[in-house]
Amino acid sequence: MKLSLVTSQNIAELNTECLVVGLFKDGTFTPSATTLDRVSNGGVKSWIESGDISGDLGCSALFPSFPGVVAKRVLFIGLGKKTNCRKSFAKVIQSVVEKTRNIKNVTLTALEWMETAQPEWMVQTVAQTSITTCSSVKNYKTQPSDGKKTESIHLVVEKKTKALTSALTKGSAIAKSVELAKELGDMPGNICTPKYLAEVAQKLGKAKGFDVTVYEEKAIKKLKMGGLLGVASGSINPPRVVIMEYHGGQKGEKPVALVGKGLTFDAGGISLKPAASMDEMKYDMSGAGSVIASMVAIASLKLPINVVAVVGCTENLPSGSAVKPGDILTTHSGKTVEVLNTDAEGRLVLVDLLSFVIDQFKPAEVIDTATLTGACVIALGNDISGLFCTDEKMASELLEASEKALDSAWRMPLNAQFTQMLESRFADLANIGGRAGGACTAAAFLKEFVGNTPWAHLDIAGTAWKSGKEKGSTGRPVPLLVNYLINKVN
Ligand code: BES
Ligand code: MN
Ligand code: ZN
Repeated sequence: MKLSLVTSQNIAELNTECLVVGLFKDGTFTPSATTLDRVSNGGVKSWIESGDISGDLGCSALFPSFPGVVAKRVLFIGLGKKTNCRKSFAKVIQSVVEKTRNIKNVTLTALEWMETAQPEWMVQTVAQTSITTCSSVKNYKTQPSDGKKTESIHLVVEKKTKALTSALTKGSAIAKSVELAKELGDMPGNICTPKYLAEVAQKLGKAKGFDVTVYEEKAIKKLKMGGLLGVASGSINPPRVVIMEYHGGQKGEKPVALVGKGLTFDAGGISLKPAASMDEMKYDMSGAGSVIASMVAIASLKLPINVVAVVGCTENLPSGSAVKPGDILTTHSGKTVEVLNTDAEGRLVLVDLLSFVIDQFKPAEVIDTATLTGACVIALGNDISGLFCTDEKMASELLEASEKALDSAWRMPLNAQFTQMLESRFADLANIGGRAGGACTAAAFLKEFVGNTPWAHLDIAGTAWKSGKEKGSTGRPVPLLVNYLINKVN
């Protein structure tokens, strides 16, 4: 699908297969509704009176063209009450794109649909939302689903300014990366193995212009990543650590570090998970997937910033060689960990990556993202990611980016009491802290490995995946991460 900006003196004269016009519930007309009402000699007003069209949120009516209008069809879409709600705006865009799926080219007058909002934000959001809504998710069915598809969407703007064009580019880049993250998250564990993920990163690095280094098992052993190796020890598919470096900033400027959990399948290991829904644990690499995908967006947008990303890829399976409850692992940092539950494996992988990236690259700040705990899903549900952060400025900027990106997050606590719950009788730390505050003890565990480097952790266990009818990956938190980095340089 192609998205572009168009200008128009008179939308009634726009040549398009479908012109989409919004209607407010309070009866006030958008400029486009006013124009259509004028050319139809009061048609819009009378159709509202007769109940054929309505401004009620969710109501829509598709009209064939009528005299005075060049467009082949007009879709009237109810916007509800006038509002500044960003989420509702995106929802309306999504529903319009879904409703016009079988129409080849569609023209939106969406910049009129919010009470007040930055046009740049609206353009970026229309781009991001419409492209993600249009894209069909990949599957492995042998019978391809047919169907006409929207080929182009045009967005009416007053003037094609540089700022609006750049907003369109940003929204499109984010949408493409969301698609990539979704595709990776949906991939089954027998296809998306650690080796496969590393190869994907390598290919993307070549194509988009970031450096990729892949560490195989021998190199990982040399780095003494005992946590990651412990988790990987039960698998036949060997682990990978992938380092991606994007140099868009000044030479010598400290990079921002991104870290991702890349469990291509998490069966729980010896502390085996129950069978129900275990298939979904193929998305336990969503942290890594979203980090790889974010690098693609950052590089294609040529952001003037240095970013280093590290993802740790492995499976977590039970076998005769798997790590056992009670085993003690020595992590890359030198700290020892007693594994009380082999299903709390993500943190064992992450702490090796965190101390490694801090040692090696001296980043200005680190953000890790991981499908880390079921407890976070219980705490915040499936729409809000858990944000843990040691730095106030970083936290508020991440929350701001999350709000603008419509990729919600909520700040969670990192109090010392959670660290105390990780005390081990035999090692420096235990890898679990009991059921209470499970998302917080997991974050407190990670915190022990980041020293003084400003650090944020996003627990995306609930938000990276949708269960039920729309089962599949969401591509989150790509919008949050990319917007956060964009905001750093704008
Ligand atoms: N990958 C899971 C977390 C998870 C759970 C992600 C549900 C998505 C949906 C993680 O490795 C895990 O198993 N965590 C355990 C930790 C526990 C053993 C302390 C959990 O949350 O149950
Ligand atoms: Mn697990
Ligand atoms: Zn896991």
